[in-house]
Amino acid sequence: MKGRPGPIAPALLAWFRQNARTLPFRQDPTPYHIWVSEIMLQQTRVAAALEHYRRFMAALPSVQALAACPDEELFKLWEGLGYYSRARNLKKAAQRVCEEYGGQLPASYEELQKLPGIGAYTAGAIASIAFGLPAPAVDGNVLRVFARLYNDDGNIADPAVKKVFTRRVMDQQPAASPGPFNEALMELGALVCLPGGAPLCGACPLAGQCLANAAGTQNDLPVKTPPKARRVQPVTVLILRSAAGCLLQKRPEKGLLAGLWQPFLFEEQLTLDEALARLAGLGLSVRGDVPPRPLHPAKHIFSHVEWHMTGWELEAAGPAPAGCVWAAPEQAAERYALPGAFKAYRPLLTAGR
Ligand code: ADE
Repeated sequence: MKGRPGPIAPALLAWFRQNARTLPFRQDPTPYHIWVSEIMLQQTRVAAALEHYRRFMAALPSVQALAACPDEELFKLWEGLGYYSRARNLKKAAQRVCEEYGGQLPASYEELQKLPGIGAYTAGAIASIAFGLPAPAVDGNVLRVFARLYNDDGNIADPAVKKVFTRRVMDQQPAASPGPFNEALMELGALVCLPGGAPLCGACPLAGQCLANAAGTQNDLPVKTPPKARRVQPVTVLILRSAAGCLLQKRPEKGLLAGLWQPFLFEEQLTLDEALARLAGLGLSVRGDVPPRPLHPAKHIFSHVEWHMTGWELEAAGPAPAGCVWAAPEQAAERYALPGAFKAYRPLLTAGR
């Protein structure tokens, strides 16, 4: 590596004061607010998370309220954000905070990392932003900014490279403002030092110090090994309607979308005849006088698997099989957490006949 950028904090912090987005958790940065917002923002874009954040805080304004929240209600608040284990871990950690820390998140980078769902990044964000402690908070945005700033083509998926980048972040972090510094780096990554070979170097407060900008390599950085190809899983969805509503099925308590609700489905490709035979085996009869309506195909991408969904809408009757309920449209809309994976079919489940 040739050269080193000089101190970036003065220009970065001046830019952040002028350009920081007004976000609800920035206006009242308590440890609880920063914690919940950072967990939400891990896999979700700021704009998409904001409405969920407001609803969440209105319903669960304290660590104690979160610790006591029934799972069904928590999942409903998380509905659409995905990665529901984040919500599960939030509640588990809140219970631990109540039992072991008197309801206050610990003001320690190390202690925070002992709580479920809080890794190095989240601990660093809470420690620095909410408690003003010197700690790194290195997410994908920060790795991208530093790969370019130092013109470093190390693979950012490699833990050893991440460690080097983290050390550089701490070398640059001013003792007087660790929180604003970390947040300014994330903000720069989100607004200016954009991914996908599209950085807005003309608007960047660090362009003069950026080694990639000087070398013209900013569009080639960061280097990252591509993730493994996702497995494709065919799914047969059956929207079953009766006078009592649509049939919803609770997913198993372990694994993908654990404990959440879904339209009746089989995680395999079935023909209509095969599907009808399965239903008959479960004691559900399908009316022969109403032709099955094919569903429009839909895809949902999870981190490791891709669901390719097809199926039918059917008029059915019979007692709900084990683990299923007949849900009236308003119950499907307001009571049962239906993950975003079923967004394409949600209107069918929440609308009457
Ligand atoms: N992404 C994750 N956390 C963030 C934060 N605090 N500010 C801006 N973008 C973020």
